[in-house]
Amino acid sequence: MKNIQEITKNNSRGRLSMVTCYDYTFAKIISKTNVDMVLVGDSAAMVIHGYANTIPATINMMQAHVQSVSKGLNGKFLIADMPFLEHRKSLKRTMNSVDLLMKAGANAIKIEGGSHHLETIEYIVNSGIPVMGHLGLTPQSVHSLGGWKLQGKTKEKANIISSDAKKLEDAGVFSIVLEMVPNQLSTKITQKLNIPTIGIGAGPGTSGQVLVLQDILGMSKDFNPTFARKYVDGNKIITEALNKFNGDVKNGDFPNKSETF
Ligand code: KIV
Repeated sequence: MKNIQEITKNNSRGRLSMVTCYDYTFAKIISKTNVDMVLVGDSAAMVIHGYANTIPATINMMQAHVQSVSKGLNGKFLIADMPFLEHRKSLKRTMNSVDLLMKAGANAIKIEGGSHHLETIEYIVNSGIPVMGHLGLTPQSVHSLGGWKLQGKTKEKANIISSDAKKLEDAGVFSIVLEMVPNQLSTKITQKLNIPTIGIGAGPGTSGQVLVLQDILGMSKDFNPTFARKYVDGNKIITEALNKFNGDVKNGDFPNKSETF
């Protein structure tokens, strides 16, 4: 089981794995794996609550997911996403939200974006709370980014992401998620920093990789992004299991003698 020191020691030469998780049942399974870190992402708004993007995630929603995941994780390092605008309203509100997520069982907070809230990040870090940054495609800004697109394609945009990464490191973040940026850019940033980068759709040049649990498990038939690898066809397996149950009920095979009192 990795703690923050082991995670940060693991810089560009290391390999870290992180998965998202939103509930107790999956957290218990993950707790028995070698996966290094778990993220209660605000992707919960999409994956669990069915919204089109992460903007509807609220602090209460995130708090409830962190509470159930932390109960199942058995001490594995848990990062909680700061939901939409929660760190942009006031420092008091930010710290109340951090307080709620940490008391729900998080070990660290992830905050999207770079140079615009360095002071806030520094304040949280100086309060003794590990903060993870998130650059590139920051889903909470999907409307100003013009959709779910590869970021940092031009030299100018790449330079902004790269300099934001350095500023975040200087502000004290222990790691940075790089989402949907070209491999060349994520590799360059990773080589420049002393803290680990965790990529999603950012190629193999980062210190680690994160995927959404439901993507790893192939839970959706319709969502097949090229950067996500399905390790199992969960959608097919679960559909078959449910149809088998239905069939067994209909044909009288369930419950049988041994399943009956
Ligand atoms: O919310 C989330 O799941 C994330 C990961 C995709 C990095 O931020």
